This record gives sequence, C-alpha cells and structure tokens, in this order.
Amino acid sequence: MPEGGKRVRILDFKEKKRRGEKIAVLTAYDAAMAHLLDRAGVDALLVGDSLGMVVLGYETTLPVTLDDMVHHTAAVARGASRALIIADMPFLSYQVSVSEAVRNAGRLIQEGGAAAVKIEGGEPVLEVARRLVDIGIPVMGHLGLVPQSVHQLGGYRQQAKAERDAERLIANARALEQAGVFSIVLESIPAEVARAVTAALEIPTIGIGAGPYCDGQVLVSHDILGLYPGPVPPFVKQYAKVGEQITAAAKAYVDEVREGVFPALEQPVRGSRR
Ligand code: KIV
Repeated sequence: MPEGGKRVRILDFKEKKRRGEKIAVLTAYDAAMAHLLDRAGVDALLVGDSLGMVVLGYETTLPVTLDDMVHHTAAVARGASRALIIADMPFLSYQVSVSEAVRNAGRLIQEGGAAAVKIEGGEPVLEVARRLVDIGIPVMGHLGLVPQSVHQLGGYRQQAKAERDAERLIANARALEQAGVFSIVLESIPAEVARAVTAALEIPTIGIGAGPYCDGQVLVSHDILGLYPGPVPPFVKQYAKVGEQITAAAKAYVDEVREGVFPALEQPVRGSRR
C-alpha cells in the first residue's frame, strides 16, 4: 500500500515547533485506515492502546497486551508510507522493570515497525524513558489523564485543575524532556496549564482535550469519524458520521439480498481481489 513521499521523523516534530507549525496526529489500528489517514497528510499515526476500547470492545485500555499492540502496529506500518508511526506501550509492558521495558519496546520497533513508543506517566517512568532513548528508541511521554491509571484517578476526569497538581505536571514534563523524550501528549487538562507546559518546553506538546495552545493535536480516529458506537469525549469534533453510512449501506445490502435484487442476473465479470 505505501505510496511514497518523505517520511516524517522525530526531528521534524521539534523543527515544526521551532517554526510554529502545528502537528496533526490521529490514531490508527489497521493497514486500510492507516493508508487513508496517511493520504490525508497526518504527521503521525499513533497506534494507541485505545485499540482496546474502539476496536477490541473492552471497557478500558487495561486488557490490551503487547502481542495485540505488535500485531496492530505492524498492520499500521504496512499501510502508511509517510507518517511517523508511534506505538503505545500497553499496561504492564514498561512498569515492571527497565529491562522488560527495553525488550517490549524493542518488539514494537523490530516486529511492529514503529519508529517510536509512547509511555504514560511522569516521575515513575523517567528511568525507563532515559534507558530507551539511550539505546536509540524514541519515546513520547503522556501526562494529565493517563488512561492506564483510570482506577487510581477514579475515572476519566480532567486532571491538573488544582495549582499544586498543575505545578507537579509541569515539573514532570520538564523531567521527561530532560530524560530525552521527543514529544509529550497532554490529555484532559485545562488549556492554561497546557499553555504553560508548552511554553516551558523545547519539545512539542500534543494535546487531546487540552485546548488550543499545544504544539499539535491528537484525536482517536474512530471518534472524529463517528465509527465508535459508545459515548465520545466532549472535546471531540466529529468530522463525519461514517458509522451511520456503514449501517445504511449494510441495511441496503440485506434488503436487496432478501428481496432477490442482488445479485442481478447479468453481473459484469471482474478479476478477483484474492
Ligand atoms: O491510546 C490512545 O489512543 C492515546 C491517545 C488518546 C493519546 O493514548
């Protein structure tokens, strides 16, 4: 499927921030969608562990395994030729020890074809971030609402609202930058806190539910396309309702089969796709 064009690299992220150009990121989980989003010109495709919720039907991201992530990352990598491919490290794949984190991140790069990995959290993951960067694996951080800690946070709620929490978040962002991460996702925090983090860092911030002042934005593609049947976060803008079109098309097919309208007697003979 790859179509060509200059591949986006992590250095382009920093350069875009320097030039004041916004960075557009979407999630992807399979080759066909990766191909379509890549053609639209996204800078990066994040193979998020949101996979668990929007594709695999789980209630949280916690059941997603490393094997799931390797499988879906490899599909995305086959479908996209330009966007930077970033793979989420799933729950428990980087929290147990630095050496396990290295091995697991290595699988996402080696077997999955990702160019970078994303890990959630601040101070507790600094050593892992430093080690991965030291051995040549680019790392994206993720602060604010970190979905792998949903039970600790007491639900999917906005973070860093109190001044002390906002100060801690800014300190964590600085520490991640020092550790060598190339970019940080800021999820569900007040716009003014995101603005302060963005101003404090040389690396770009990528916001989701964090207002307009970040250096870039990321959204879950199923949310913006209307593909996910569950509730959509309030900060999402829906650019299409593809789910409704799919149901309408499938219903038209069902009706035509039942009524004997499809297939027509005279079908044009075409080559098979398989
Ligand atoms: O898993 C995911 O899709 C994410 C984004 C929402 C940032 O982490």
